Parts: sequence; C-alpha cells; structure tokens
Amino acid sequence: MLMRSPPSDARTRLPTLLWRTIGLAFTRRYVVYALSLLASVTFLGLSFVHPGFLFVLAVALIFAAIGTYDVTQSHHSLLRNYPIAARIRFLLEEIRPEIRQYFLESDTDGTPFNRAKRSIVYQRAKGALDKRPFGTQLDVYAMGFEWLNHSIAPKQPAREPPRITIGGSDCSRPYSSSVYNISAMSFGALSANAIQALNKGAKLGGFAHDTGEGGFSAYHRVHGGDIIWEIGSGYFGCRNPDGTFSAERFAEQAAEDQVKMLEVKLSQGAKPGHGGVLPGAKVSAEIAAARGVPIGVDCISPPCHSAFSTPIELMQFIGRLRELGGGKPVGFKLWHRPSLGIPRHRQGDARDPDLSGLHRHRRIGRRHRRGAARVRRPYRHADARRRDVRAQTRWSGSISATASRSARAARSSAPSTLRA
Ligand SMILES: Cc1cc2nc3c(=O)[nH]c(=O)nc-3n(C[C@H](O)[C@H](O)[C@H](O)COP(=O)(O)O)c2cc1C
Repeated sequence: MLMRSPPSDARTRLPTLLWRTIGLAFTRRYVVYALSLLASVTFLGLSFVHPGFLFVLAVALIFAAIGTYDVTQSHHSLLRNYPIAARIRFLLEEIRPEIRQYFLESDTDGTPFNRAKRSIVYQRAKGALDKRPFGTQLDVYAMGFEWLNHSIAPKQPAREPPRITIGGSDCSRPYSSSVYNISAMSFGALSANAIQALNKGAKLGGFAHDTGEGGFSAYHRVHGGDIIWEIGSGYFGCRNPDGTFSAERFAEQAAEDQVKMLEVKLSQGAKPGHGGVLPGAKVSAEIAAARGVPIGVDCISPPCHSAFSTPIELMQFIGRLRELGGGKPVGFKLWHRPSLGIPRHRQGDARDPDLSGLHRHRRIGRRHRRGAARVRRPYRHADARRRDVRAQTRWSGSISATASRSARAARSSAPSTLRA
C-alpha cells in the first residue's frame, strides 16, 4: 500500500510565515506600528512595577489600536501600507500652509498677497501705524522691479480722487468712473450679505459695483451704490423663458438710475469659453428671482451668446444695448485669448488652451502686463482710443473694454483684421 508523506513545504510554511511577519515589523512601512506594539507590551510590564507607567501605557495602547485598525481596514491603501505613519503625514499636510506662513515665508514672499501687504491692510483697518522707517525690504535690483521717480516740481495732491469719463459722443449718459471699482462677482457666487457690503462700500467710496453675470438683485439695490450691470451668456435678469435675450426685460432694469454702465461678458478667467453652472441646490428663490430662472434647477451659463456670434454682431449688439439702456455706456469683458475676440474672428485657433488638461488650469489667462499690452495694440491700430474706446485691464489679467461708437463706425475705421 502506498503511504503518502505530508508535503515537505507544509512543514516549513508556518516558520516562514512567522519570520516574514517578524521581518515586516522592521520594515520602514510598519516600524511605527511595531514600535507602538512593543511599547504597549513593555509599559504593560512596567506598570506592574510602578503605576506611573500606566499613562504611557494608555498612549501606547491608543497608537497600537489605531495601527491595528489601519492594517485591517481595506478602504485606504496608504493607511494599510503605512499604519500610523500615513496619519502623521496627513497631519503634516494639513498644517503645511501654517508652517510655511508662520516659519518659512518671508514678509515679501507669498501670492497673491504677501505678509507685508496683508499687514498694511490690518494696520489701516485698525487705525494702527502703517509706516516703517529705514528703507525697503524689496530687492530693488531684481528684474522687473518698478518704481516712481520723485518730481522736482511736486504739486498739491488733488482734493478729489481722480475720475475718468466713460462714454463718447454716442452715449447720452456718460459715466464719471472711479479708477478703482468692484470686479464682477455674482449674487449666487457671493451671499446676500457680501453683495450688500460691497454695494455699501461702493456708495460710501464713490465707485462702481459690477453685478457679475448673476443679475441685478434686490440686494444690489439696498444701499444704492453705482452699478455696472453685467450681461453674460445666460442673460440673467433679462432673459426669455427659453434663455434668449429679452430686450423688454433688459430695458426695464437698465433704465434704473442706479445702473450707470452695462457690460457684456464674453468670458472670464475662471470660465474661458466653457460657460458655467450654478448647481440646482444653490438656486434659492432669491437667486432664481434675480436671474429669472426656475428655483432648484441647475442654472447654466452657456459657453457662447445667442444674441450674436461674430465680432461685428457683438458691436451691433452693444449698439442695441446702448439704445435700450437710454444712452448709458456699454462695455464688454473677455478673458484674453491669443486671437483677441473683437478685432479678429473667434474660430479654430490652434493655440487655444486645452481646458481638459488639469495641469493647465493654473496657466489659463494672460499675465497682467502682457495682457494689457496685447489688448491695447489692436485698439491703437483701429484708432479706437481716439474714438474713446477704452481698454481697461484688471490686475490679474481679465480685460474689459468700453465701446462708445456704433458698430458701423467701428467697422469703417477698422483695419482689415477688424473687419469680419
Ligand atoms: C466669487 C467670484 C465670482 C465671480 N463672478 C464673476 C462673474 O459673475 N462675472 C465675471 O465676469 N467675473 C466674475 N468673477 C471674476 C472677477 O470679476 C475677476 O475678473 C477675477 O476675480 C479676477 O480679478 P481679481 O484678481 O481682482 O480677483 C468672479 C470672481 C469671483 C472671485
């Protein structure tokens, strides 16, 4: 009769497994967990010798329990592979910004606002001293450093803050604008309190508050600060139920005295040509009323306008808005693309950014100085500045322009690149 002997590897399997487990404890991945187990056993023994060790035992046991949970759970691979150590990493990541800000960053590092700039804001807000003697901390020989020269014939400072008149001969109601105004930020993106606070600031400071594309809401009207009403591709506040532009609804609100200028939004840095969505959950009754959309339904800003589709049609639309708005200045805002939307056709530009690539999200839009130079050039060629078409750049590179002539005039005096 044939007798079978047990397979030879079965006899060796158990010790091998044991050795492997002990070996694992000394690998980098498990060392913190292994130490907490070792500490638990050690302090358990020591606590019999002296009760003072009970506290340390408790700490070691907590670590051992967390480590045991980490190696046995199956949701997070990092925790399973690096029990306890992964949690220390998460903690460090969490406090990384504070460590940088409090210990590593210099007063002049950090964007968009460094510590020195933030300190000035705090000091001025609290009425504290905001001057520092003994020179500058800036590297005045660094590339791109800008400065103002002292005048040998200084003048008395102006009594009133400087203002710019926007609107040429086609505007029967030009607007005397502050040089600093509040950028477009919609009600919906901002809360009712924020809208009221900004508009009150505009009223007190004598500057204008851009509504953003989310409509001219009741909250914009509480304090009566000057308004630039922005019209985006969703025509919020001036739309028909099907989302197209409603001349009647536009005229009603544009005629209000508080509205000083009108702005067509083509694009903004955060939504360059792909529109936007305010999720249905955020579309409250008030937001729906301001925008003229149904409550609780996703509120879509389409990627393009339905009222025009070419640069010339845009200029014609601007002319129409000016008439409907009773002669108030009408501008447009665009996120600047390699082929500037107005002087050239907006189609098939191979150099357009690829918006699907995450790595490019921080690189969309044009830097302020380059954007400013680029947007001025076509207007200079079109002799538009003389005709009071003003290009205004906002500091992070979004660009808007205020046109004051009719589309016909723009067309006749434009160079060939402007003629669509
Ligand atoms: C909360 C928020 C909402 C915004 N909503 C709009 C908007 O509705 N329409 C628009 O043209 N730009 C909008 N923007 C863009 C700003 O108007 C501005 O162009 C942008 O923030 C860059 O300027 P800044 O560097 O001064 O912030 C929004 C920006 C923020 C931060």
